[in-house]
Amino acid sequence: MRNNNKRENVLQSRSPCWTTVTSLNKCLSSAPSQAAAVNVVIIFILMYAMYGTWLVLIILSQTHGHCMCQNRTTNFRPNIVMVMSDAFDGRLTFDPGSRVVQLPYLNYLRELGTVFINAYTNSPICCPSRAAMWSGRFVHLTESWNNYKCLDRNVTTWMDMLQQNGYNTLSVGKLDYTSGSHSVSNRVEAWTRDVPFLLRQEGRPVTDLVGDASTTRVMTKDWRTTDIATQWIRHKAAALSQPFALYLGLNLPHPYVTDSLGPNAGGSTFRTSPYWLEKVMPELISIPKWLPLSDMHPVDYYSTFTKNCSGNFTEQEVRKIRAFYYAMCAETDAMLGQVISALRDTDLLDTTVLLFTSDHGDLAMEHRQFYKMSMFEGSSHVPLLIMGPGVKSGLRLSQLVSLVDIYPTVLEMAGVAVPGGLSGHSLLPLLSQSAARPARPRPDWVLSEYHGCNANASTYMLREGQWKYITYADGVSVPPQLFDLTVDKEELHNVASKFPDVCRHLDKLLRSAVDYPQVSQAICLYNKQQFAAWRKSLGDNYTQVIANLRWHLDWQEDVENNEKAIDEWLMTSGFSSEKLKPSTSPGPSFLPSRTSIPGGV
Ligand SMILES: *[C@@H]1O[C@H](CO)[C@@H](O)[C@H](O)[C@H]1NC(C)=O
Ligand SMILES: *[C@@H]1O[C@H](CO)[C@@H](O)[C@H](O)[C@H]1NC(C)=O
Ligand SMILES: *[C@@H]1O[C@H](CO)[C@@H](O)[C@H](O)[C@H]1NC(C)=O
Ligand SMILES: *[C@@H]1O[C@H](CO)[C@@H](O)[C@H](O)[C@H]1NC(C)=O
Ligand SMILES: *[C@@H]1O[C@H](CO)[C@@H](O)[C@H](O)[C@H]1NC(C)=O
Ligand SMILES: *[C@@H]1O[C@H](CO)[C@@H](O)[C@H](O)[C@H]1NC(C)=O
Repeated sequence: MRNNNKRENVLQSRSPCWTTVTSLNKCLSSAPSQAAAVNVVIIFILMYAMYGTWLVLIILSQTHGHCMCQNRTTNFRPNIVMVMSDAFDGRLTFDPGSRVVQLPYLNYLRELGTVFINAYTNSPICCPSRAAMWSGRFVHLTESWNNYKCLDRNVTTWMDMLQQNGYNTLSVGKLDYTSGSHSVSNRVEAWTRDVPFLLRQEGRPVTDLVGDASTTRVMTKDWRTTDIATQWIRHKAAALSQPFALYLGLNLPHPYVTDSLGPNAGGSTFRTSPYWLEKVMPELISIPKWLPLSDMHPVDYYSTFTKNCSGNFTEQEVRKIRAFYYAMCAETDAMLGQVISALRDTDLLDTTVLLFTSDHGDLAMEHRQFYKMSMFEGSSHVPLLIMGPGVKSGLRLSQLVSLVDIYPTVLEMAGVAVPGGLSGHSLLPLLSQSAARPARPRPDWVLSEYHGCNANASTYMLREGQWKYITYADGVSVPPQLFDLTVDKEELHNVASKFPDVCRHLDKLLRSAVDYPQVSQAICLYNKQQFAAWRKSLGDNYTQVIANLRWHLDWQEDVENNEKAIDEWLMTSGFSSEKLKPSTSPGPSFLPSRTSIPGGV
């Protein structure tokens, strides 16, 4: 009885804005009886233990299915729960990618909610991507150039907006969207990417098997934050008389720091336990085809080299890295599962919108790379699943969407007025039966851009229809790439020179969203200024500090020439200096920027 009473209480106490009480009650009374609901929980546990996960899905979808497409009205204010992982390849959340590893809770979300099968990050690296997600604005508008330069601390996120509008809010775990963080190596590599030297910065990707067949908590830090989030749901949120919003930021499936490489090492260790490895279907792991090094696009080659992946890898090695990565995704899925369980146990599933996404993906040895910082699918394609009241069940949407869409979506769901000047568009018209027609039509393309380390030119990606167009820097000095994703899912055939008209069309479209040569130029200048200021701050320690960054092994092989290359770079203007317009804006604001955000195409 307890659960249903609680739900009734919650409903009544919120009644001013809950005009759907009747329809919810109808929904409840048509749902299985209390006894049946208890049975369902018991079946869930037994089935899980006996048969694994697929049966669980079927049972849950049959019992909860009735309640998932409630009639949403404007006064309804659902709770909002968002789980954001780090480096989760979006293609694993729908067929056929989803078969390679068991992800029962993502499948649950997919069955009972809506999955976006063409969701992209607006920048394939942690901090800029999250800056776009939290601000609803493209990276070039907030000037979130790299992991060190993102949003000002005082920027208004959608979570702030929810709080200001009566939501009880909690954000736990990895947030990572404000300026100032990440390693010195990370920022210096970003600033010096135009210096014409080639230094290996990351460790070669490796695997690490820990624990045994019963080790479920490998990423203990994430589990601790997941515990905090679920305790909060159970003990605080469930008793609230106002709606709540919870954000849980996970580190997984981001690879772990490779400790053996010293204090400045990056994360090149794919770590899991036999328990999670069991969830991977070895026979379904694909071995990605690679272009010969000599045929690679120069910027991709720079990425491969600086990520220390230009050496030889055995097929066995690649298979293992991919298996471990998928196993890490399975552990992430289990954390999402804890959140779903907490919402279910507290009877909050019917009144809560649950979102799952990631800041970017991981190449997991596709294109001879790991990590992200690339516009290839493994890096730029993110998961986006949404479930809850008003959201259609079992829907698979192929519209192109991106992380900036989350801001207006969440606000619209919460009935909060959406501010102007956003780059994103609410997803609600796609998700729900009852939403009003959008004021601003959704464009049929998405934009992603990249200005950080491991790519030696600012990179812009526009996806429209079957095409993925990637252009660099000023659009002239580096050749563009064009992939037809309908026939070339592996993105091995750059057809830019075969389809010049398509390139022209997409380039024009891209320029209608961003004056990218101008942005690239501003970043070249910013990189030099930042580097020069940093060097000055080190005084006599410069030589020693720069020699001991992540690239120390390669740096120390030719100290003199490396320092010289930097000196020469600092003296050049890069792009024609008279046209440089250094950014004088104080930081992100929410002023509409009509010239750079087209209303639609
Ligand atoms: C929602 O409820 C209204 C009024 O009861 C009804 O007219 C409408 O068809 C419903 N919409 C959906 C999608 O069920
Ligand atoms: C880079 O990879 C090579 C082998 O390809 C290896 O010998 C070297 O130790 C790696 N460097 C780092 C920093 O991992
Ligand atoms: C990027 O690095 C590659 C590899 O060193 C080089 O061939 C290319 O010219 C560089 N591109 C730019 C724009 O600096
Ligand atoms: C990689 O393998 C190729 C062909 O087997 C060989 O020619 C090359 O020297 C190898 N490279 C390294 C770095 O070992
Ligand atoms: C240089 O390094 C020394 C020793 O770590 C430190 O005491 C000193 O403050 C540093 N100087 C600057 C300018 O950072
Ligand atoms: C945010 O802080 C920056 C300085 O960090 C300041 O220039 C800016 O005006 C502030 N913006 C708002 C909206 O307070």
